[in-house]
Amino acid sequence: MIIGSNVIEHEKVSSTNSVAAALCREGDIPEGTVITALWQESGKGQQGNTWESEPGKNLLFSIILYPMSLKAWEQFYILKVIALGVYDALSQLTEGVKIKWPNDIYVKDDKIAGILIENSIMGSSIKNSVAGIGINVNQEVFLSDAPNPISLRMVTGRNCDLDLLFKNVCQAIDVRYSSLNSGSRSSLTKDYKNALYGYCRWHGFSDAEGSFTGMIEDVTESGLLVVRKKDGTLKEYAFKEIKYN
Ligand code: BTN
Repeated sequence: MIIGSNVIEHEKVSSTNSVAAALCREGDIPEGTVITALWQESGKGQQGNTWESEPGKNLLFSIILYPMSLKAWEQFYILKVIALGVYDALSQLTEGVKIKWPNDIYVKDDKIAGILIENSIMGSSIKNSVAGIGINVNQEVFLSDAPNPISLRMVTGRNCDLDLLFKNVCQAIDVRYSSLNSGSRSSLTKDYKNALYGYCRWHGFSDAEGSFTGMIEDVTESGLLVVRKKDGTLKEYAFKEIKYN
């Protein structure tokens, strides 16, 4: 097992992604090293947002990867690996887990986990990748204006053992990362699509032209979302170009 073979635990950091990126810059840090924290002072979310987490209640960690088999333009596979690993581990504990494209983990219509992948690219290669994962586990009240947070405790009604869940998530990501490294890209793609929130189902969306009803038909190799509109037209969207209503 690569992921989690080396775990560096912190009580408090600014952001586990920032700590991991600094270790990568220093060099000589083994692949699969995981930086964990009980608390982040400036937890980073997507699009410059912050990530809210009550000290000691949730899982906050970042994994250092050197995905040698991938070119820079194939970096979406890292997201597939991480999202599927989190999806697999949480699906053992509750029903209705989905991946909301590109990188949110949902239970039914609420967000239980977020992923922030920060890659260091050199030419066409990925020098290193820092995969940051925040899973809402035992927190019950969320204060930020994040739209619809939920935790495992809120879903199951029970407190969850953080150490055990951490081990299970690392193991599940390790299985998916091994698939990538052994060349099973098509199964990752198939499983990612099948786990997608709203896949092959009519759903309300908005894009630059306004609101519409559409159906997710595919995700391209580079991670664009392919949506069929009710009028039959097919369109590809990058992150931020489309919103789920
Ligand atoms: C999102 O906005 O959905 C992504 C959230 C990612 C949060 C995690 S918590 C651990 C790691 N360190 C950070 O600063 N962010 C990620």
